Amino acid sequence: MSTVMITGSNRGIGLEFTRQYAADGWTVIATCRNPIQPGELSAIPGDIQVHGLDVSDQRQVDRLAADLKDRSIDILINNAGIFGPRNIGIDNMDYQAWTDVIGVNTLSPLRISSAFIKHVAQSEMKKIITISSIMGSISKNDSGGEYIYRSSKAAVNMVMRSFAHSIDAHEITVAMFHPGWVKTDMGGESASIDVKTSVSGLRSSIAGLNVKDTGSFFNYDGEPLPW
Ligand SMILES: NC(=O)c1ccc[n+]([C@@H]2O[C@H](COP(=O)([O-])OP(=O)(O)OC[C@H]3O[C@@H](n4cnc5c(N)ncnc54)[C@H](OP(=O)(O)O)[C@@H]3O)[C@@H](O)[C@H]2O)c1
Repeated sequence: MSTVMITGSNRGIGLEFTRQYAADGWTVIATCRNPIQPGELSAIPGDIQVHGLDVSDQRQVDRLAADLKDRSIDILINNAGIFGPRNIGIDNMDYQAWTDVIGVNTLSPLRISSAFIKHVAQSEMKKIITISSIMGSISKNDSGGEYIYRSSKAAVNMVMRSFAHSIDAHEITVAMFHPGWVKTDMGGESASIDVKTSVSGLRSSIAGLNVKDTGSFFNYDGEPLPW
């Protein structure tokens, strides 16, 4: 049976990824910051193995990669993310918060993907997915603002595209996705789609990827997105 590893699996999009893959009979390596109190995650039926992982902690990432060293991971999903403070502009920029958001959204997907190359390379499907955002698209930035979040997602797109080139000998498909504007704690109640719609679309688009797609950026419905 296939195995997926998901970061930030305890709520929002990560929780729904866990629910849907588990319901389809996948083994899910579900990581979250607080594995002692994983909330709704503990109530999902299926083969779900919960592991503690703060994605910005290099030692935790290295330890988990070592603990799982003999495991094949068909799909690794870098999902964990933060928005950072809202209503921040040029007059009240919070540079420390910006650094923290870059740490989680930009550096951690590379940190984790690098640590798990072997696990993915020895699997059948060989896919590394990063949940980015259309807010990281430079050409789609028609309204400005949100310097912190936008720059973290624009940067992760660049980082993961370079990563795709760095590991091309492994024939791993590396792709970035915008999940839609989704009703989660981050997306809020006014968002346009629910988690089920977003994650069903993402799963079907991820399933359709092949190595020719490596280094690309897509909408959750599989449409290519502009950088
Ligand atoms: N919702 C949207 O409309 C939308 C749109 C575009 C992109 N996205 C992206 O989609 C992804 C998931 O977002 P969401 O809407 O599901 O957000 P969410 O409901 O706020 O959930 C975020 C998840 O990330 C985890 N997380 C944050 N920092 C972490 C860290 N340092 N280590 C481990 N886990 C951490 C959270 O864990 P804790 O519970 O421990 O905080 C939580 O599980 C993010 O990358 C986000 O940027 C979302």
